[in-house]
Amino acid sequence: MAEISNNIQQARALLEAGELTAIPTETVYGLAANALNPEAVAKIFEAKNRPSFDPLIVHIAYPSEVEKYAAVFPGPARTLALKFWPGPLTLLLPKKPIVPQLTTSGLDTVGLRCPNHPLTLGLLRQLDFPLAAPSANPFGYISPTTAQHVQDQLGDKIPFILDGGTSVVGLESTIVGFEKGTPVIYRLGGLSLESIEGLIGKVEVKLHSSSNPQSPGQLTNHYAPRKKVFVGNLDALIRQHYGQSFGILSFKTPYGMDNSYVLSPKGSFTEAAQNLFGMLRELDQSPVDFILTELVPDTGLGRAINDRLKRASAHA
Ligand code: TXA
Ligand code: MG
Repeated sequence: MAEISNNIQQARALLEAGELTAIPTETVYGLAANALNPEAVAKIFEAKNRPSFDPLIVHIAYPSEVEKYAAVFPGPARTLALKFWPGPLTLLLPKKPIVPQLTTSGLDTVGLRCPNHPLTLGLLRQLDFPLAAPSANPFGYISPTTAQHVQDQLGDKIPFILDGGTSVVGLESTIVGFEKGTPVIYRLGGLSLESIEGLIGKVEVKLHSSSNPQSPGQLTNHYAPRKKVFVGNLDALIRQHYGQSFGILSFKTPYGMDNSYVLSPKGSFTEAAQNLFGMLRELDQSPVDFILTELVPDTGLGRAINDRLKRASAHA
């Protein structure tokens, strides 16, 4: 099992030796290695059982580091970075040769993010390299939002988990790239479409490309528990499955049955996002056969919550 501690110096020593460490971020926990060291990065793919065509996000300590790793930093990207970093935003930018091919899976862009978590920012500021880190879960499964989630799934494959408490955002970062200079959102996440458009104007959203995804985070069946998830009108779903063994994940209405969870009794998207992955995990581990859930209103963070619920329910 991995050691769990909040000691940054232990994490630092391991990362400097080319080893893996799980790190807390405000979105979800990441599985980190020196992004500039291909042997270290290879260990991430191995531990996660992740296909090597899936590029990693490179985490930096300061927005000013973008220019070390990206060849171009377009105006709208700069505007977004200045406003939302550190925070749940990943920018896809043309990479410089210093970033190894393995880190970007051979793509000529690199995903950069300055995460907003005091422990991890403290760690990054002490390191003289950035950290490649995908979410710290086996490929395709729900992302972890606590150190214990990481321990449960990857504890036998990694030496150390830096414990920074429960991730406060609870959804992965929003990924923004640029096509001929025009911003495009490839993954909805902890930063809402409205916040982005409020700053730089209308942005195209391209979430699905099932055949040849530019990023597997776009795969329809991703972020999924092992149990089947059905999304729809909860009252109708419950009637339809009456007498069967199911769990319930509702937005704000309590169902008062065994194995029923409420994302946010007060109907807050922020609270719902914080609870989403943890509750899906608990339902996945509970003695039910399948999970019934409903979409939330499709605005703000609700869009990203709905995106994850739909993917969790896509039975490939
Ligand atoms: O919030 C987050 O983004 C978390 C924390 C740990 O930072 N990380 C995360 O990483 O969610 P991961 O690897 O689970 O998801 C990142 C997604 C993947 O779908 C990957 O394919 C895509 O970002 N991605 C990374 N670099 C890319 C690139 N250069 N071009 C296209 N997609 C990229
Ligand atoms: Mg992931």
